[in-house]
Amino acid sequence: MAQEVTVLDKVFVPYITRAEISSRISEMAARINEDYAGKNPLFIAILNGSFIFAADLFREVTIDAAITFVKLASYKGTTSTGNVVTAIGMEERLTDRHVVIVEDIIDTGKTLSAFIPEIESQKPASINIATFLSKPSALKYDVKAAYTAFEIENKFVLGYGLDYDGHGRNLPELYILK
Ligand code: XMP
Ligand code: MG
Repeated sequence: MAQEVTVLDKVFVPYITRAEISSRISEMAARINEDYAGKNPLFIAILNGSFIFAADLFREVTIDAAITFVKLASYKGTTSTGNVVTAIGMEERLTDRHVVIVEDIIDTGKTLSAFIPEIESQKPASINIATFLSKPSALKYDVKAAYTAFEIENKFVLGYGLDYDGHGRNLPELYILK
């Protein structure tokens, strides 16, 4: 059994084991393999947090599929929402592609609610979200994931790609604030 870990000023306790994570990812990949057979989907993994999840999920996607990675930079723009997100590294043409956005966690939903319209503007054939985690009680924006590995309580989590101030991404399982 994994032990609690201290990162900077905070203590985290083991929350979801590597075995549970693997099993949920296999289930998710099996559904994706079925839903996207013959559609050559393009996975868009959002850096940095999703890189470990994306690698484990994509390894189990056995149908013909492509993957690309983007980094989102948000800044205050002059739109009505006051928030603009730019995708750094988005070079693929999305028109008529089946897009699967891969995210580490949907918290309030703000990040994806800003990013999805950018994807939609390129007229893809479809857009779905595959997220490792979601915090249903924190959700404030209209963002729905078609594939969610775990719904968790509204507390800060760490590990399996998710960081606390740049630390802890390399922890193999998921930890939660004590
Ligand atoms: P929103 O609110 O836009 O948040 O859905 C999504 C982004 O916020 C970060 N985030 C977390 N990172 N542990 C983390 O390490 C958490 O518990 C957590 N909650 C939100 C994350 O970067 C995600 O992409
Ligand atoms: Mg993130």
